[in-house]
Amino acid sequence: MASARQLIEQRITAALDQVLEGQDAKRDPMLKQTQDPKFGDFQANCAMGLEKVLGTNPREIAQRIIDALEIDDVCDPPEIAGPGFINLRLSAAFVGKQLQKMLADDKLGAGNDGDTKRVVVDFSSPNLAKEMHVGHLRSTIIGDSICRTLEFVGHEVMRRNHVGDWGTQFGMLLEYVKRTQPQALDDPSSFRVNDLEQFYKDAHALFQSDEEFKTASRQSVVALQSGEPEMRTLWKAFCDESLRHCHEIYDRLGVKLVDMGESAYQPFLPGVVAELQEKALAEESDGAICVFVPGYTNRDGSPLPSIIQKSDGGFNYDTTDLAALRYRVDEENANHIIYITDRGQASHFDMMFKICRMANWVNDDIELNHIGFGVVLGKDGKRIRTKEGGSIKLADLLDTAVTKVKELLEDSARDFDPDKIDEIANVVGPASVKYADLSHSIESDYKFDWDKMVSFEGETGPYMIYAFARIAGIGRKAGVDFDSLSPETELILGHPTEITLAKSLLQFPDAIAQVANQLKPNAMTSYLYGLSRTFSTFYDKEHGVRVIDAEPESARQSRLQLCNLTRKVLRTGLSLLGIDVLEEM
Ligand code: ARG
Repeated sequence: MASARQLIEQRITAALDQVLEGQDAKRDPMLKQTQDPKFGDFQANCAMGLEKVLGTNPREIAQRIIDALEIDDVCDPPEIAGPGFINLRLSAAFVGKQLQKMLADDKLGAGNDGDTKRVVVDFSSPNLAKEMHVGHLRSTIIGDSICRTLEFVGHEVMRRNHVGDWGTQFGMLLEYVKRTQPQALDDPSSFRVNDLEQFYKDAHALFQSDEEFKTASRQSVVALQSGEPEMRTLWKAFCDESLRHCHEIYDRLGVKLVDMGESAYQPFLPGVVAELQEKALAEESDGAICVFVPGYTNRDGSPLPSIIQKSDGGFNYDTTDLAALRYRVDEENANHIIYITDRGQASHFDMMFKICRMANWVNDDIELNHIGFGVVLGKDGKRIRTKEGGSIKLADLLDTAVTKVKELLEDSARDFDPDKIDEIANVVGPASVKYADLSHSIESDYKFDWDKMVSFEGETGPYMIYAFARIAGIGRKAGVDFDSLSPETELILGHPTEITLAKSLLQFPDAIAQVANQLKPNAMTSYLYGLSRTFSTFYDKEHGVRVIDAEPESARQSRLQLCNLTRKVLRTGLSLLGIDVLEEM
């Protein structure tokens, strides 16, 4: 179903076609949402760019466009403003009908109308043998929200956990365990992830200080890679335990991921290197095999290579990513691949994308994106750490969120029953963390501020869940079951706050499109927050309208339907952020 915005764009394009008949000029309506309701809801700026083509002034052109425009079923009569802006205001009749269509559609007007893509989203992807920590939070939350949105719109999404389960770090760990835990092989699955993390830390220290251990670790990698059975057994047990731990966290966060780690692409690495050499894209440099991507230089201006095979013959992170990218295109038939990591890896992915395009492994129809996010900072503006200086474990972070929400509820003036407090805190706690993360723009660093994010006031997860529960409560008070309200209920939009609310609801598909096309979940958080504020004004005793006791009955039905639609949009929008709601609080 076309959104109001899409409809207006189509109509103006058709009018431009008439006005520009025979002329070779772009038919772009240049439509913008207006900030000030004084100027209507949308503004088309196309007249300004056509001065040269049509040889007359933009106000005159705007008039010609309006004369050719058939839009009275959507908007009030258009107006020309300033130098030649066309201002458009949605008519109340259109808004009412469009909302009814939205209500009757299970995608609330946001489906992709059959334009389905196969999208791989590579996110979370921690290095194994360590507990998940705050550094994995953003990729996991942002990735999940983007997947949910693309899935909702109707794309086929492959969620990929590209875990670090291979390479030097495992060599170190295995060598260390072999030396210090001689019985390890008797029961390799007896180790827990925190044991592994400790071994890993100790192994790392030894690797730095002990040459003999360093060499042995390197040999262990070779042994693992050549399939030596004991090494494989330990490795497999360690990966299984690590992944079990990761999924425990994913379950708590409600995140689904398919594990397909670096090791999965090992068989393809020699082929990747050979083919790049055949295509004369890779060359030897200081004993290593490198690809030089035009435009990439070191600080001193010398060319910066992507090393795809080290001088000792080993492959690395770059090689694996090239093989994975190829696999996703050739075997998984992806036509869009999205990577979500911290912004520090931006140039790595940019190089990978360029190499794959130079090698013709990826053609122009395939879209590749890297979303690089900023880091999570403590209140002091430095990287967030525990009091002891270590990184904060995700499990602890989620526990803290729940505890903080519990404390707030226990201290509140309302007398909550303790069971209820647990139930609320288990939903609101994780939601507060997710909302805070998603509402910040992706690229910027953000400060982790507990007091702000668990608060029930301001733009927070707890506030949004509360706003939802409050609307659900209106249904209970009015004695109606929102879900059984007929979608045909006529919407009577008279009061300014009714019209504003209705128009805000109509923007939901555009907010989804923004997340789906620009991959920016904060377009959804700010839309939902705006909607909940608009709803508050609509329901306000002083500035809004009566709802539960509205008269006549047709007005009451119409307003209850507006509540219902707001509730649906909030519930759907929050679910796309990975946030569950509560019917009651
Ligand atoms: N394991 C990597 C890290 O912790 C992230 C992997 C991201 N995905 C990828 N295909 N490289 O930095």
